[in-house]
Amino acid sequence: LQIFHCAKEFGKYTKALRGTIGFVPTMGALHEGHISLIARAKAENDHCVVSIFVNPTQFLAGEDLAKYPRKDEADKKICELAGVDAIFMPTIDALYGHDEPKIIAPNVSGYILDGERRPGHFDGVLTVVMKLFMLSNATNAYFGQKDAQQLLLIRKMVSSYFLPVNIVLCPTVREKDGLAMSSRNIYLSQEERSKALCISKSLFAAGALIGKGELDCKPLDAVMRSLLDGIDVEYIAFCDRDLRKIDHIEIGSSLILVAVRIGSTRLIDNLWI
Ligand code: PAF
Repeated sequence: LQIFHCAKEFGKYTKALRGTIGFVPTMGALHEGHISLIARAKAENDHCVVSIFVNPTQFLAGEDLAKYPRKDEADKKICELAGVDAIFMPTIDALYGHDEPKIIAPNVSGYILDGERRPGHFDGVLTVVMKLFMLSNATNAYFGQKDAQQLLLIRKMVSSYFLPVNIVLCPTVREKDGLAMSSRNIYLSQEERSKALCISKSLFAAGALIGKGELDCKPLDAVMRSLLDGIDVEYIAFCDRDLRKIDHIEIGSSLILVAVRIGSTRLIDNLWI
C-alpha cells in the first residue's frame, strides 16, 4: 500500500500505471459502505486507488467541518486489508491554491434539495471531484447511491466536460435494521439513532406500495410523512434521474429522496425505483 500526500506525486504514480484504475473518492472514516465500493473497484480493475480528504469547500460556514470524524490510522488499515494499491491523502494546501477557478454546480439541479439547504455545497463537491479525477487518472470511479444528488451531478459534469471516466453507481449499504451507513451516524445518540430508523422505514413502505401498483406520488408522500411523524423533515422529493419533480412514478427512472434533521444531525436517504 502506497500513501501519497503530494498531488503531483500521486498524479505521476497513477499516470504510470498500466491497465485500468478503479478510484474510490472518500472523506475517510471508512465504513462498510466504503468497503463495498473498494471491493467492487478492486474486482473490476487492474488497480485500486482511494482518496481520503475532508474537503473544506463542500462544507458551509457553521457546518460540521471541524468535528467531521477523522480516522486516518484506522482508514489506512482498512485500505491495506482491502488490498488497495494506493491512498491519496493530501493536505488542503496540497490540493487547493490561491484564487482558483471553480466548478459551479448546474443552476437548477445543483441548487434544489440538498443544494437549496446547502447552497454552494455541490460547487465544492464538483470542484474537488474534478481535481481528484484529473489526479487519479481513473478508468472507473465508484460512488454510493445514497448520495443520489451528488452522484447525478457528478455524472452530469463527466458528460458535460467529456471527462474520460466511467461513473459506477453502487447500492447503498445499510445496517441490519435498515439505517443507511454514513460517517455522520456516529453523531447520533442511541435515542436519535432509533428515531432515524423511520427514514428507511418510510422509503421501504413507499417501495412496497409501488410494488403493489401505487404510482401516484401524493399517497406515497402521505404514507411516508405519517411514518416520519415527529421527525423534522426537510424534504421528501419525487424526481426523475435529472432531479426534475414528478407526480407519477415511472419504474426504472424515478427517485424518492428524503432529508431529515434529528437533533443536530442532518441525514439523507433515498430509493432508486
Ligand atoms: O461523498 C463524499 O464522500 C464526498 O462528497 C466526495 C465525493 C469524496 C468529495 O469530497
